[in-house]
Formats: sequence, structure tokens, C-alpha cells
Amino acid sequence: MSKKEYKRHLVTSALPYANGPIHIGHLAGVYIPADIYVRYLRLAGKDVCFIGGSDEHGVPITIKARQQGVTPQEIVDTYHKLIEESFEKLGISFDIYSRTTSEIHHKTASDFFKKLYAEGKFIEKETEQFYDPGTGTFLADRYIVGTCPRCDHDHAYGDQCEKCGSTLSAEELINPRSSLSGEVPEKKKTTHWYLPLDQYEPWLKTWILETHKEWKPNVYGQCKSWLDNGLQPRAVSRDLDWGVPVPVEGADGKVLYVWFDAPIGYISNTIELFPDTWETWWKDEDTRLVHFIGKDNIVFHCIVFPSMLKAHGGYIVPDNVPANEFLNLEGDKISTSKNWAVWLHEYLEEFPGKEDVLRYTLCATMPETKDNDFTWKDFQARNNNELVAVLGNFVNRAVVLTHKYYDGKVPTCNTLTAYDKEIISHIPKTLQSLESHLEHFHFREALKDAMNLARLGNKYLADTEPWKAIKTDPERVKTILCISLQLCAALTIALDPFLPFTTKKLRNILNMPTPLPWADLSKEQLLATEHQLNEPTLLFEKIEDATVQAQVDKLRNCCETAASASTSALIPAFEECTFDDFTKMDIRVATIQTAERVPKTDKLLKLTIDTGLDTRVIVSGIAEHYSPEELPGRQICILANLKPRKIRGIESKGMILMAQDGDGNMSLVSPAKEMKNGSVVN
Ligand code: MF3
Ligand code: ZN
Repeated sequence: MSKKEYKRHLVTSALPYANGPIHIGHLAGVYIPADIYVRYLRLAGKDVCFIGGSDEHGVPITIKARQQGVTPQEIVDTYHKLIEESFEKLGISFDIYSRTTSEIHHKTASDFFKKLYAEGKFIEKETEQFYDPGTGTFLADRYIVGTCPRCDHDHAYGDQCEKCGSTLSAEELINPRSSLSGEVPEKKKTTHWYLPLDQYEPWLKTWILETHKEWKPNVYGQCKSWLDNGLQPRAVSRDLDWGVPVPVEGADGKVLYVWFDAPIGYISNTIELFPDTWETWWKDEDTRLVHFIGKDNIVFHCIVFPSMLKAHGGYIVPDNVPANEFLNLEGDKISTSKNWAVWLHEYLEEFPGKEDVLRYTLCATMPETKDNDFTWKDFQARNNNELVAVLGNFVNRAVVLTHKYYDGKVPTCNTLTAYDKEIISHIPKTLQSLESHLEHFHFREALKDAMNLARLGNKYLADTEPWKAIKTDPERVKTILCISLQLCAALTIALDPFLPFTTKKLRNILNMPTPLPWADLSKEQLLATEHQLNEPTLLFEKIEDATVQAQVDKLRNCCETAASASTSALIPAFEECTFDDFTKMDIRVATIQTAERVPKTDKLLKLTIDTGLDTRVIVSGIAEHYSPEELPGRQICILANLKPRKIRGIESKGMILMAQDGDGNMSLVSPAKEMKNGSVVN
């Protein structure tokens, strides 16, 4: 934590795009950690403001609207509502959840731009941009498709190739097409405003690299690499009809770039929440600003937005940006287009009352330092082996025995043995360790600390066996249960940031009407002698194999349906070619003999192929679609006379022919009946 003592904490979480529902990747990356953190700060008595909201501009929203034949506003209205409701049901405790299509946001973002514009903080530049002669509009990079210059994928977008993950510019695409009209884009002149990030570079270098060495290594490292590579001016406007209009005369048809307006959304939402006092939250040096984001947002929150704030003047800049890495699902990247995701609104419907099970699992597998994997098996195991067997079991035993022996009244602690004292001493120790982990954004360790109190309680009961001692030494049992109940009470505090639904239930069981403050964790006696408990209820229930299997099946089915029903992407038609062009290609039937992975790659397989003419090696990027075991013996088609090239040091002679759609689905191409190897395809 920063050394400075701050008076208040302004915590933001990335504004999700309102063009789809929230999935577990968003939650584990951003919203669960942010919520744990603010709940902790509030319990600790800090002045906290937690800002959320929907990011409702940007090109993907216009694409979705076009696909569905509705307006962008209809898209964002639908998803904003869905997102807001599902966050609320999961207990994400925003102080405000607003949206960037609000009037106040448009005004705030517009004024922000105007001030920078008036003070000459932008560079105005005329450049040539892609223009679609078919629709008469400029084309955002996303609207241009073509062949990826890096991996040859022929449905790469102008900003990114989803197959190899490269960031691209539309300029680099081979054979570019407009995805609106299918026409070849032209270049046309247009004027835009640029924020000269290079001018802020010296300041950024000192501010981040010198004074924020405590930032998480993944965040610091990414910033350092951007700064070491040198910053360029960035356009802050776009030719688009969806967004905040550029407030400059003659700028018709231009809007603020979504990454310019969206972070200003944090400010607009604060203004909406506190119209009179918002400035103390954004302009007083005693406010600590923390941005929770995913790793793909680092440059915008650590470099671009701070430069905007600096250019504007008067604003504080973030004290920390604890970005997480990505969460995968069942071993694969989460993909919304392939429907490979666990959607929050569906989870909430299918697992009513199990909000905390998801919160727990996502915190325990949070991708804090590297990408991590969510599996339904792990979800089940964490529920059954940790929540049920450790936490639920401990609380239940302590409370049930107290009812059985003492009518549900907290018994007196008699003389403590050394062991009792040691157990009790863990409560304040836990407090210290928890605090330190939370302050450093080590949420997984923090959760372990809190759960360890329950583990300890279980061990204590197993060691002291009150159900036996009750016959031989009843006075001793009073002490044992008193201590156990103190641990239960401590758990209502320690677990509260992580499992707010459970701690509420637990407080009911323990008859603690108001939550205890964080500092009470340092007290040894939280429940007074003779305090009356309520009847125990179960905190968690076992999750059966069939339940998680059903989720895995659903995932696989949905994913397949999405792929086959998808209207989104087919690769557009190629340019005309002549018969001669075609006959240059020597396409042959061949059989795969062996297949093995190319070490240290995810995508590449090394195949030996019997072509009828020779036996040769071909390296092919199909490892994500075929495992090496399923390939030997298969008949396929290859382009046999492709100029040999070295791939990862292996000489590859020819190319395997694959069928592919624009959604990343692929299949080998085989002759419809078995043919002799070396048969010509024409
Ligand atoms: N909508 C962006 C995303 O999902 C995040 C925007 S964060 C903000 O990646 F700062 F711009 F609001
Ligand atoms: Zn590519």
C-alpha cells in the first residue's frame, strides 16, 4: 500500500461494453477483486466510493446493432439493464452503476475535450483513412476484413487477427474488403485530433517507473515496455455516427474515440452520484484513486487516461492499477462469439442462492499473476471440499453442540490451556495477514487466510472432541465451545468482503444483527457469555456430479450450436483468378503417417506425410483443432508444390488444405472415398 494516509478511496472498475452479458472472465478479472477490496475498505471504516457503469459507445456495438437490424441504442439499453441487474444479484456493491449514453456523460466528455482543444493540447492532422465507396462512410478498422499478414488467416479484422492474436492495422491486411458492402476500401482524406502522448512520456516515466515501483509486476512490466518503446500521438476522434459528437465546428460525422470518452465515464458517474461534492473525489490530493481492470486495459488506464488527466490539469491520477490477467474456461480461451463462456445471468438463474459459491471459486482461481483456468470440476470441488466440508461443517458443529449442551447460549470460557490460547491468538494474526494481503491485492492469499480460521476451528474440534469430553470433563467443553463460537464470529468479519451472502446468514445464526467492524477482529471475545444463538441453518449444500456434468454438456452443446448457427462470419469472396493461376497449384491426396506437437507452441503440429511421390514433413497450425493422436492414417489433401519454408527451425514442404469459416472453425479436407496417395486434385 502507498505510504501516504489517504482520507478517502475512489475505486473504479472497468466499464464493460454493453454489447453482451457479463461472464466469469470479467468477474474474476475485475469485478470480484474490486468488490472484495471496497467491501474491505468499508468494513475498515474508510470513506469509499465504488464506481461502475456501462461503456456504451464504440464500433462493436454498431456492428452488433447492424447484425440484429436494430439501433445501437436498443443494443445498449438491453445489455445495460441485464448487466446492471446481474451485478446487483451477485452482490457487486457499486455506489453507482451508470452509463456512457447518459446526458451528464456526454456533457462531461464533451467539456473535457473542449478544454483540451481550446488550450491547444491536441494536434490536428489530416490523414487518409479507409472509406467504403459502397456505403459512403469511413470504415473503422473492425469493419475491414482481409488476410492476416502474420498467419495467413483470411478473415482477420483490420484491428486484430483473432486467429493468431496479432494486433493489426487495416493497412497491413492483404486483400482488404469492407464487411459492410464487400467492396474494396478506398483511401480518403479526413481530419482528426491527436493527443501527443510523446509529450507526456517524460512525466509518465518518472511517475510510473520511479514512483510506482510497487505496482503489480504484470502492470509495471507492461507500462515499462510501452514507455521504453516510445509513445506516439493517438487519435482521440473517429469518423462514426455513434458516440459523443466532437464538439468542434465542422466536425460533423465525427465522434470522440470510445477510449477517450469511456474513462471520463468514471468522472461523469461520480458527478451523477455526488453532484455537489464530486470534485473532492477527483481533485483532492487526499483521495486515493484505484482502477480495477483486466490486462487488455492497462495501456489505457496507466498511460492514456493519466495523460488526459494531466493535460486537463486539476485531477488526481491513479495511485494503483491492480490489473489481472485472463481467466480461461475448461482449458480454452473464453470466447463470446463461440459462446465458450459461463454467463453470469444464466448462472444466477441456474444456481439460485449460490452466489457466494461463484464468488468463492472465482476469488480462489483469480488470475492475479498469470492466466488461470475455471473448470466446473474445480467449482464442485471447492464447494464440496472447502465451503461444505470446512466452513459449513465447522460452523454447524459449533452451533449444533451449543444448542445441544447449553440451549444455544454462549458458555463461559474457563481457564484456558496453552492450546486454547494458541487458537485464540490466530484471530488477531489472521487480521494482520489478511489486511496485508488485501492491501497488496493478493486476494487469493487473503481468502485462504480467512478460510484458515474455519480450518483451524475444525481441527480444534477434532483435537478436543467436545462430544466425548462432555461425559468426562463438562467444564472443559464450555471453554471449547466458547472458543469455537468466537472463531465463528470472527469469520463473519474475515469472510465478509469475499462471501457477503454467507456472512449475512452466519450473522443470523449467531444472532448478530449488525455487522461487526473490521477492527473487532483484534478482539478475542466477540460474543458475550450467555449470548443467545439462533437455530442453525445450513450455509452450503453439496453439488452433485450430475449438476456440473450438465454444465459441461451445456457448454459444449451451446458452443457447437453457436458455431453452426453463426451468421457472423464467412470469409468474403476472393479476387478473380485465371485457370492458369489455379493449375499452378499441385494439389494431391496424401496420408498422414505421424504427428507430433512442435515444442513450445500451442498451434503447430509436425506431420510426416506420404504423398505417393515422397515422404515429407509439413508443419501445420492445426494443433488447436486436432490432437496428434487422431491424425495418423488420415487421408488429406495438400498443396504439394508450395515453396518450402522453415517454421520454428523445421523445414516444411507444402501445406495441408483446411476448410474454415470466419469463426475459427476448421476441418481437414479429405477425398470422399479412399484414393491412392499422390492422386491429383483438380
Ligand atoms: N469497455 C472496456 C472493455 O471492456 C473497458 C472500458 S474501461 C473505461 O475493455 F475506463 F474506459 F471505462
Ligand atoms: Zn493472424
